Amino acid sequence: MDRNHWYEAGLDHVWLPYTQMKVAPPPLAVARTEGCRIVLADGRELIDGIASWWTACHGYNHQHIRQAVERQLSVMPHVMFGGLVHEQALTLAQRLTALLPGDLDRVFFSESGSVAVEIAMKMAQQYWINRGEPNKTKFVTFKGGYHGDTTGAMAVSDPDAGMHDVFRGLLPEHVIIDLPADAASADALELVLARHAERIAGLMIEPLVQGAGGMRFHDAATLQRLRAVADRCGALLIFDEIFTGFGRTGTMFACEQAGVIPDIIMLSKALTGGTLPLAATVARKHVFEAFWSDDPRKALMHGPTYMANALASAAANASLDLFEREPRLERVKAMSEQMARELAPCGAMPGVRDVRVRGAIGVVELERIGDLHALRARFVAEGVFIRPFGDIIYLTPAFTIESEEVARLTGAIVKVVGEGIARGP
Ligand SMILES: Cc1ncc(COP(=O)(O)O)c(C=O)c1O
Repeated sequence: MDRNHWYEAGLDHVWLPYTQMKVAPPPLAVARTEGCRIVLADGRELIDGIASWWTACHGYNHQHIRQAVERQLSVMPHVMFGGLVHEQALTLAQRLTALLPGDLDRVFFSESGSVAVEIAMKMAQQYWINRGEPNKTKFVTFKGGYHGDTTGAMAVSDPDAGMHDVFRGLLPEHVIIDLPADAASADALELVLARHAERIAGLMIEPLVQGAGGMRFHDAATLQRLRAVADRCGALLIFDEIFTGFGRTGTMFACEQAGVIPDIIMLSKALTGGTLPLAATVARKHVFEAFWSDDPRKALMHGPTYMANALASAAANASLDLFEREPRLERVKAMSEQMARELAPCGAMPGVRDVRVRGAIGVVELERIGDLHALRARFVAEGVFIRPFGDIIYLTPAFTIESEEVARLTGAIVKVVGEGIARGP
């Protein structure tokens, strides 16, 4: 059988994400991964600038995580979490709540970011139902936000910045407004809340960096403003740290930089170091207490089949070991400085709107990207895996990446942006 038989035989039977398959170039066939490298089936090796949608924070195939998963596999790959619990999930819950600030104290596990968002929304809505305020069902969220692809998560994401334009009109309606980043937008938020306070269950935001909506940054003061507004109007504050969690913005969690404790926080992506799917929706004590009752109807009615999967929980515990033992956040700081220095020349190039870096996130925003497919292929030709979207070229590498590898990534961006290919004809 030919080496790539699986590719030829299978490609016509998969449906690829976010892809118009009729016109998109065929996907790259990957044979294996190692560290910060993706090895293609044809033998080419790419330096990975994305860490598989921001998950593989310790690089691929980290020995410590692999061994933990292998050990767990021989004991128990999975057991249902209804009526049963196990060491890996309980240890993980305890460790996560110890790492998170304040009394974020109760972990509800699921298997993907979008589902963690759905759970947070149900939690917030039922919190108010249980407290006798059933009209508080709506969410205030922000332009540029992205919270996932399931129906509830789409409904709180920006329909324009995101990918969900086609579903407009089919989704539950919430209030999606400008981030309160200045006095005028803060006033607008106050106004909305004054008008609708009795219907608002919560405010939801990706703290410090709105990721898939365009890698947009805001400051800590914006989050502090949201905390104050949420308290004033009696709404829960919900932080989606699915992208920002686990060191990506320079601290373990982005909320730490603002000194703000949300009422609910969602984690996923780098939770297992990019090994297995797992997510967590973590609630503060007072949120959990609204469900604590003799009345069965006040229980949270949710329970994904694979929640708290033992293999994924073991991977997450091993990933937390690595954060404890190895200087990840120091590395993020050094990488941040390097990316800022090395991407800076792009700022003076024609067609570049902005160059920005926060933590281990480096962004070159263009006026427009002419041919996304050609641009992506150009990066592959340079030996790097960088996947621009919208108008941005970005880097979110593993924290274990060598500085020479970062230099290869930034060098490729400077070169390709300088060629003008990004702008297209
Ligand atoms: C901030 C944020 N929330 C939610 C999600 C959805 O996560 P998943 O793709 O695991 O459903 C994403 C995914 O990119 C995300 O970046």
